[in-house]
Amino acid sequence: MYKSKITGTGSYLPKKIMTNEDLSKIVETSSEWILERTGIETRYIADTKNGESNSDMAAIACKKAMDMAGVEAKDIEMIVFGTCTPDRRLPHASAELQRKLGIENECACFDLGAACSGFVYGMTIADNFIKTGTYKNILVVGAEVLSSIVDWSDRGTCILFGDGAGAVVLGRADENETSEVLGATLGCDGSGTEYLKIETGGSSSPLTHEDIDAKNNFIQMEGRTVFKYATRTMIGNAMKLLDQSKMEPNDVDWYIPHQANIRIIEYIAKKLRLQDGKCVVTVNKYGNNSSATIPIAIDEAIRDGRIKRGQTVMLDAFGAGVTTGAVLFRF
Ligand code: COA
Repeated sequence: MYKSKITGTGSYLPKKIMTNEDLSKIVETSSEWILERTGIETRYIADTKNGESNSDMAAIACKKAMDMAGVEAKDIEMIVFGTCTPDRRLPHASAELQRKLGIENECACFDLGAACSGFVYGMTIADNFIKTGTYKNILVVGAEVLSSIVDWSDRGTCILFGDGAGAVVLGRADENETSEVLGATLGCDGSGTEYLKIETGGSSSPLTHEDIDAKNNFIQMEGRTVFKYATRTMIGNAMKLLDQSKMEPNDVDWYIPHQANIRIIEYIAKKLRLQDGKCVVTVNKYGNNSSATIPIAIDEAIRDGRIKRGQTVMLDAFGAGVTTGAVLFRF
């Protein structure tokens, strides 16, 4: 059995910033309402009109992660790409990403559909491939163009989401190193499938003109219900993983929850009785960019020196499904 560790991180946000003020010109809302109910001030929007795609953003994040890890294209043995907004339905975005990164070794690549839990699922899968000795260097990516699946006339959802990309290189750790993935838990509560969904466009209901007119091809959400699923499952997973690791909440140095709403993060921090300042928060700047929120937050907190080698970090996610997952690692 081998150990895995994060050897490099990277992230990318598109150039265009959308403020709450901008949104108040599109839908009936106000900066104050958005800030008070969500904590979000700005979000970033990909320039899809000029060809900026999900895999373009992911490639930039991955290159930064590979530079930090000191690995080259030929060293990457697998790409796990968590996303619910691939460039196209076929082929999968990880194949595009492999090509854009100049990886020519025909390594394994797949997209992972676990919505906002995609990165945490991906990291857990990658960890297991490294533990068994199958691979030594895996790219785990979370990247989204949620602006392409948001109904820009629905004030209950369009205020929340944004675009962006984050990635890590998970590599094999030496036996005597302290850096390692300590544990993980994944789950899904399928009773929640109807609360956060895109109704049409799948194989059970191919897109029709009527659907487009009714905007059934965009995200639909029951916000309050999702809020309750989020808090219950994220607290549950964090506690489960802490129990498994024989740790108390404040033994963890940094807590990186999925960035959906500051009120969800504050509720969880309160229930876990986390000391002030333990949560890495980016939702104010970037909104919710689904599978990308956690790897972007990891990258920021490592690059600005908050997360130091030897410190422990808890990742905790939930997403449509309702998928859930948490990962504990020592950086
Ligand atoms: N601006 C102004 N008013 C708004 C609004 C907006 N952008 N969005 C909703 N409202 C209104 C509603 O219409 C409602 O009005 P009513 O009382 O007259 O019917 C009122 O505000 C309260 O709506 P409600 O949905 O109960 O508000 P909330 O406090 O639950 O906040 C969310 C809404 C979406 C911010 C919140 O439920 C949330 O964040 N849920 C979790 C969603 C999530 O995390 N999704 C991603 C999962 S990965």
